[in-house]
Amino acid sequence: MTDTMLQQLRDSLRQGGLRGTLLRALAYVVDYWWDLKYHTDTFAWVAVERLGIDAQLQAHAQRYQPSQVVPLRRLLRTLDIPPGKVLVDLGCGKGKVLLLAAEFGFAEVRGVEVSPVLCEIARNNCATYRQKTNTPTQFVIVQADARQYPLADDEEVFFLFNPFDAAVVEQVIRRIGTSLFRRKRKIWILYGYPIHRATVEETLAASAHREEFTFWGQDFTVFVVEPGPALESPRAPSAS
Ligand SMILES: C[S@@+](CC[C@H](N)C(=O)[O-])C[C@H]1O[C@@H](n2cnc3c(N)ncnc32)[C@H](O)[C@@H]1O
Repeated sequence: MTDTMLQQLRDSLRQGGLRGTLLRALAYVVDYWWDLKYHTDTFAWVAVERLGIDAQLQAHAQRYQPSQVVPLRRLLRTLDIPPGKVLVDLGCGKGKVLLLAAEFGFAEVRGVEVSPVLCEIARNNCATYRQKTNTPTQFVIVQADARQYPLADDEEVFFLFNPFDAAVVEQVIRRIGTSLFRRKRKIWILYGYPIHRATVEETLAASAHREEFTFWGQDFTVFVVEPGPALESPRAPSAS
């Protein structure tokens, strides 16, 4: 067992107790089995230094670690977002969220990922998954820094699984705010392992309704932004 795994085990026991830790372990078994079932490659984590990006991007990025099948399915089932929508995973890694979202009737799922290495794996995973399942959901992978991704007006569900630091989170959420100003619509922001949830909340200001969920030891914060007067103008950029 590596030092990182030991540290994770300690953190898990401290935060979730024995039951939470056992559920987490079981969730990893499900994830491993899920890859075997669909012949995909999503399970193995990738350190920031191995993403194939420059030092400046590395300084703001988190490593690749996939969302887990059971907690994410529970979240999407609970939220019951109407079918036919477009979901964007900002920092999609190997595309796990896109593949799982396909089970929930999204018309199109778009993954934005800064790492060229992971983009290639994500594209292969999408192709393999489509071959296996014949899913009608369309997959798009865009290699880009999430800060530069041109948000489209048809995007209504945004997903983040602890992809980057607070500075990048703020810039990305501000861009979402600007896109809402361009085309008023209801949106959902699903944030897994939401360590910068306060940044999201402050950047969205009063316009969002926030809910917290924990499934099998995995925390999610969900922000629902309804179209309305609070979105009359995008919030001014902060000084940083
Ligand atoms: C914790 S992983 C989450 C992967 C995926 N969303 C999931 O839930 O399975 C975070 C991902 O964000 C990517 N990332 C980090 N900084 C980024 C940036 N500025 N723009 C786009 N992707 C970024 C990393 O390369 C990594 O793949």
